[in-house]
Amino acid sequence: MDFAGFTLRNNLIVAPMAGVTDRPFRQLCKKMGAGLAVSEMVTSNSLLYGSAKTKRRANHDGEVAPISVQIAGTSPQMMAEAARHNVNNGAQIIDINMGCPAKKICNVMAGSALMQDEALVGRILDAVIAAVPETPVTLKFRTGWEMSNRNAPNIARIAENAGIRAIAIHGRTRCQHYTGHAEYDTIAYVKTLVSIPVIANGDITSPEKAKYVLEATGADGLMIGRAAQGRPWLFREIEHFLKTGAHLPPPLVSDIHNILNEHLEDLYAFYGVDTGVRVARKHISWYTRGLTGSAAFRFRMNQLPDITQQRQAVNEFFWGLAEHHEHLDYAQSNNDERHATWTDPTTSQPVSTAR
Ligand SMILES: Cc1cc2nc3c(=O)[nH]c(=O)nc-3n(C[C@H](O)[C@H](O)[C@H](O)COP(=O)(O)O)c2cc1C
Repeated sequence: MDFAGFTLRNNLIVAPMAGVTDRPFRQLCKKMGAGLAVSEMVTSNSLLYGSAKTKRRANHDGEVAPISVQIAGTSPQMMAEAARHNVNNGAQIIDINMGCPAKKICNVMAGSALMQDEALVGRILDAVIAAVPETPVTLKFRTGWEMSNRNAPNIARIAENAGIRAIAIHGRTRCQHYTGHAEYDTIAYVKTLVSIPVIANGDITSPEKAKYVLEATGADGLMIGRAAQGRPWLFREIEHFLKTGAHLPPPLVSDIHNILNEHLEDLYAFYGVDTGVRVARKHISWYTRGLTGSAAFRFRMNQLPDITQQRQAVNEFFWGLAEHHEHLDYAQSNNDERHATWTDPTTSQPVSTAR
């Protein structure tokens, strides 16, 4: 797909997820079939540029191009500065967050709260685009602030007129957070209004759903978030299904064991062993949810304090699985369990991923 001046291997994009889409996860998803992966949001508050978290989020060493970095904030001037700062640190695409419903973001009128002030949206977009004239800028937003004010069409027109190169729309309003179901009619309508690429987002969990959403919206591409947690190979499954109409066989237990082990080593190297062990816990939980014996395994694994024990526990779990199954065999409960609340170990903040 042609996207913001880059040719991507396909039209499947990893959604930005704070506490999830760090560099190791983005790399893995790209390796497993995603055409693009957007970073976790980076604050536009320059006072925080020196913090360990912000520095880590701006680390793109070895990342496969194109590198898309999402910025969040409310002041046009600070957003412009943040765009420049991230481009100087290797960003090849700047994505602007107007989709995040989190209270700590919306209380300062950033994220999806910005959709309430269309004039401010225009000023932010103009300022960011002017600040990084050589770098494509994209925008992510929701269908609106609330059901009675679904102004995504207005925001899309403002974006196109400002020079935004692509938009991604999550099919929920801010007030819905992650409840209910994503709706795709608003996205389909927006697609008829603008000529820049439109990416549909929300509740895409399987190859069939991906095909359905592409057809229902006419969108140019899809953005996938929660369903890829612990299942980065979903991208190659969707890619294959969209190309051929057939399903790939379920992955081999041994393949997933290797993928998870590589992911863990990358996390330990990226975060260091102490934070790495804590960050790894949530990913291990996502990979193993719904697999035979995983509840007891997760309970035990979450108590293990160091990487040697964590590695060993993961190996024993997958060796045990491989004795009984050649392919992964998720119980039906997996998808329900997948979207629980978890605590971001780097911030100790609870993050709800519930639908
Ligand atoms: C844990 C988590 C963190 C998220 N962080 C961000 C973020 O930093 N920026 C953003 O624009 N959206 C963020 N989102 C929203 C996702 O990008 C996406 O729009 C939403 O999850 C719907 O897509 P899905 O149904 O495929 O998960 C986050 C979602 C989750 C679950």
